[in-house]
Amino acid sequence: MRTIDDLDVAGRRVFVRADLNVPLEGTASDAETVITDDGRIRAVAPTIAKLAAAGAKVIVASHLGRPKGAPDPQYTLAPVAIRLGEILGKPVGFATDTVGDSAKATVAALGDGEVTLLENLRFNAGETSKDDAERGAFADRLAELADLYVGDGFGAVHRKHASVYDLPARLPHAAGDLIATEVGVLKKLTEDVRRPYVVVLGGAKVSDKLGVIDHLLEKADRILVGGGMAYTFLKAKGHEVGISLLQEDQIPACLEYLARAEQRGVEFVLPVDVLVSSEFPDLKTKAPANPRTVAADAIPADEEGLDIGPKTRELYAAKLADAGTVFWNGPMGVFEHPDYAGGTRAVAQGLLDSPAFTVVGGGDSAAAVRTLGFDESAFGHISTGGGASLEYLEGKTLPGLAALED
Ligand code: 3PG
Repeated sequence: MRTIDDLDVAGRRVFVRADLNVPLEGTASDAETVITDDGRIRAVAPTIAKLAAAGAKVIVASHLGRPKGAPDPQYTLAPVAIRLGEILGKPVGFATDTVGDSAKATVAALGDGEVTLLENLRFNAGETSKDDAERGAFADRLAELADLYVGDGFGAVHRKHASVYDLPARLPHAAGDLIATEVGVLKKLTEDVRRPYVVVLGGAKVSDKLGVIDHLLEKADRILVGGGMAYTFLKAKGHEVGISLLQEDQIPACLEYLARAEQRGVEFVLPVDVLVSSEFPDLKTKAPANPRTVAADAIPADEEGLDIGPKTRELYAAKLADAGTVFWNGPMGVFEHPDYAGGTRAVAQGLLDSPAFTVVGGGDSAAAVRTLGFDESAFGHISTGGGASLEYLEGKTLPGLAALED
């Protein structure tokens, strides 16, 4: 894989596909919009700064959220352009479209060392189209804007999208520094890991984690489960889960994984207690939720589990204490509310207290680490890719990495 150091960028228009899909509070069109976690912007900023310092005309592009192939003000990248400018310490232009008059004029006006951001790529249906010709047509128009392509949106490399997959085939290309770092770290987890290799999985849905559990049953020594997905496992073990998140259709898969874990000698650890309530907490007002702690096999029929309980936190901390390597993806509960942040906080602390090489796999768990006030640099690596890091660990071919290979 070529890197940006292999490209001669001075005076050339360089298209940087970043993943600036950051969480926002308020809609992006709203003047009060706050970027609640700017980790992804900070992660790609060094690549952009390096290209600008080398005299490139830098055209940054990304998606934000999942608009339906047409402009939608609630998904504008305008607030991200402002934040990127603050982080870079220099003005960042903004084109109000992707391949239209605004993009063409903004790019034409770029001087050497200057940076501009295009509007949300997903405002064009060609970006995410399943039809190769439609995606290709959009990629052709993007290619007209630039001379070189740098892929650095690690969080989106698992998407076969025009700007991720088709565009690099049309321009001389290289991997950006963020992608090079991410791949370097994740490769370590698939090759020789220091043992015990402990994996902590959380988040809402079991179905999102099936592939990775399947793969990790061959690799990991211990798998600790929390978050919404734990309730489908508890149900599979015959426990009442009340009105907790449940994917009934995944129960057979959960049973199969529990049986395989036993056969292979992989410790598969489920919560022993949980915090429950009859109401989902108000994440806006953060009004006190007053949860109760119950044993994991005693969730009342009219209540839902919203975090792992104190005994589980202790148990998981103990299971992390002697780890050689830890990969963690997915929060243990509704960490956005202070009454349900304790489980996620305990796991983050468990990672820090262990001597292990620790990798936090993107998305919500990375955001949780930052919003709960942990020092990011104390972790081995915090990935910017949620789905992307999981698919990498599953051993899948990721379109955005394959496109940068040749
Ligand atoms: C993510 O947040 O995981 C990436 O930005 C990809 O977004 P997507 O799941 O909407 O493709």
